[in-house]
Amino acid sequence: MKTNVLMVCLGNICRSPLAEGILKSKTDPKKIFVDSAGTGDYHIGDSPDPRSIKIAQTKDLDITAQRGRQFQVTDFDKFHYIYAMDTFNYGDIIGLARNEEDKKKVFLILDEIFPGENVDVPDPYQGGEQGFINVYNMLEEACSIIATKLKGK
Ligand code: 4NP
Repeated sequence: MKTNVLMVCLGNICRSPLAEGILKSKTDPKKIFVDSAGTGDYHIGDSPDPRSIKIAQTKDLDITAQRGRQFQVTDFDKFHYIYAMDTFNYGDIIGLARNEEDKKKVFLILDEIFPGENVDVPDPYQGGEQGFINVYNMLEEACSIIATKLKGK
């Protein structure tokens, strides 16, 4: 059976589409299914933000086919690992959990690099291009660690 991994941010157009694209590029699609979602409903059906598409393209990642969707409670049934981009997203997902089993699937993605330090991937939406470069670099490092862990499964 595949291992299913979900990346979650607020809008599902800036951070989590990058996390999805990066982790996909580091894992075998026959073994690992990667998806992304937003806790909010602002961008359902939308393409990733052009700034995320651009930074991905400079790294030879094509994320243009992704479309925004909202996190659903049923995602707890489908996914084994749910990575929140920041502590707000983490709290929102935990708030939707039906039981302890659901809660155990939810992680703060930068805990992979800075365990227990509650470090956020900052929301780059209101800022400039440098914010997206920073986000990419953080997610690249975190996804490398996640991909290595998943290979050991
Ligand atoms: P994301 O960034 O959560 O990384 O996709 C955002 C995108 C859109 C909004 C907020 C954050 N928004 O409020 O529309």
